[in-house]
Amino acid sequence: MDLDPETTLSLAGQDLDDTFNSVVPPLYQSAIFQFDDVGETKGFDYTRSGNPTRASLEDTLADLDGGAGAVACATGMAAVSTVTSLFDADAHLICAHDCYGGTERLFSHLADQSKLSVSYEDLSDREALANAVRPETEALWVETPSNPLLRIVDLEALSEFADAHDLLLIVDNTFLSPLLQRPIDYGADLVVYSTTKYLNGHSDVVGGAIIARTEALADELDFTANAHGTVSAPFDSWLVLRGAKTLPVRLRQHETNARAIAHFLNDHPAVKRVCYPGLRDHPGHDIARRQQNGYGGMVSFFVDEAQADVKELLRSTEVFALAESLGGVESLIEHPATMSHASMAPEQREEAGITDGLIRLSVGIESTDDLRTDLDQALTAARTATAVTDREPVPAAA
Ligand SMILES: Cc1ncc(COP(=O)(O)O)c(C=O)c1O
Repeated sequence: MDLDPETTLSLAGQDLDDTFNSVVPPLYQSAIFQFDDVGETKGFDYTRSGNPTRASLEDTLADLDGGAGAVACATGMAAVSTVTSLFDADAHLICAHDCYGGTERLFSHLADQSKLSVSYEDLSDREALANAVRPETEALWVETPSNPLLRIVDLEALSEFADAHDLLLIVDNTFLSPLLQRPIDYGADLVVYSTTKYLNGHSDVVGGAIIARTEALADELDFTANAHGTVSAPFDSWLVLRGAKTLPVRLRQHETNARAIAHFLNDHPAVKRVCYPGLRDHPGHDIARRQQNGYGGMVSFFVDEAQADVKELLRSTEVFALAESLGGVESLIEHPATMSHASMAPEQREEAGITDGLIRLSVGIESTDDLRTDLDQALTAARTATAVTDREPVPAAA
C-alpha cells in the first residue's frame, strides 16, 4: 500500500522487533552484536558501523525525503562535517552567504587549514553564482529558507545550474523538515538536517542526518560516517524516531502560530520588517509556495531601534525563552548577532544582513493568544525602555 508520509511516520520502526512484536521500536543500546558463526552476523557487528535502532531511523528519513539511503549523525554539525569529508583538499564549495553560523565556522576552519575552499554568495543572484564557479568547484551548499533571514532560493533553478556545471547540490533542510520540503524532488543530491530541531521536536537530544539521492552517495556517506565515527548513538536515534512520529501535528500548530505572530509583528509600530515566507510580500514567497508544502514555524523581524530597545525586548518575554536552537515544542527568542551567528565575522554578518536589530523566533506549539500577548507586552516594555533612555533632560527652572 502506498502510504502518506504522515502514516509512514506513525508506523516507523514497528517492524523492528521480530521476537516480541513490540509496537514501539526497541532501543538496541548495545555497542556489539554476537556473530552467528565466523563471518556470519545478523546484519550488525559494532554500533559505530551499524545499529538496528539507528538503521530504523535512517530508513524512515530516507523514505520521507525520497532518497536512496540516509546516515543518522551525532549532531547536525557532525552531519555537515561528514559531508565535507567527501571532498578533496583542493575542492571549492559555493555556500549561501547567510548559512547557519556553525556551518560557516566549520567551513572557515577547514579553509584556514587548507582542507577546503569556500565562497559565500547570494545564491539567488545568478550572475554572482556564475562568477563564483571555478574549475575546482564541486558543490553548492544551500539553505532555503535561510537562517536567520528566511530567504528563499529556487531549488529547481539551482539544480539546473548545478547540473550544467557538474556540481553536487546540497540542501540543509533543517528549517522545514521533509514534510514541508523535499529537496531531492527538485534535484538535490544530498539533504542535511539538524534533527535536534523539528524532526525530534522536543529539545531533548542533539542529532543530525544526511539523506542521499543515489545509492553510490549513500554508500560513500556510510563509509565516511563509520570511518570518522560521526554516527548517532542508539538512544539518541531512538529519541529522534519517537519525536518524529508527532512531526505532522506539531508542524501544523507551529505554522498556525507562526502565521499569527508574523501578522501581529507586521502591524506593530516598533517593528521595521518581518521575515516570514508565508507573508505575500516576503521576497521569494511565490517560490516558497511552489516548492514548499508549508511555511514552517520560524519568524525573524527587525526592531525599529529608535522605538524599542532590543535587549529589553529579549529580557521581557515570559513565554518565549531566550535561547538558541529552534524547532522544539517551546517558543524561543534569540538575537542572531550575539547568539546563533556570533561566530561569523562582523563584516560577513553585515553582508548577510544580520544586524543588531534582528530578532529570530522559533514559534512553538503553545496557545496562539498567549504567544501574541507575550510579544505584545515585551514590545511595550522595550518601547518604554527606549522612551526612558531617550528622554530629554528636564530644563532647569528659570
Ligand atoms: C540550519 C542548521 N543547520 C545545522 C545546524 C547544526 O545542528 P546541531 O546544533 O544539531 O549540530 C543548525 C543548528 O542550529 C542549524 O540551524
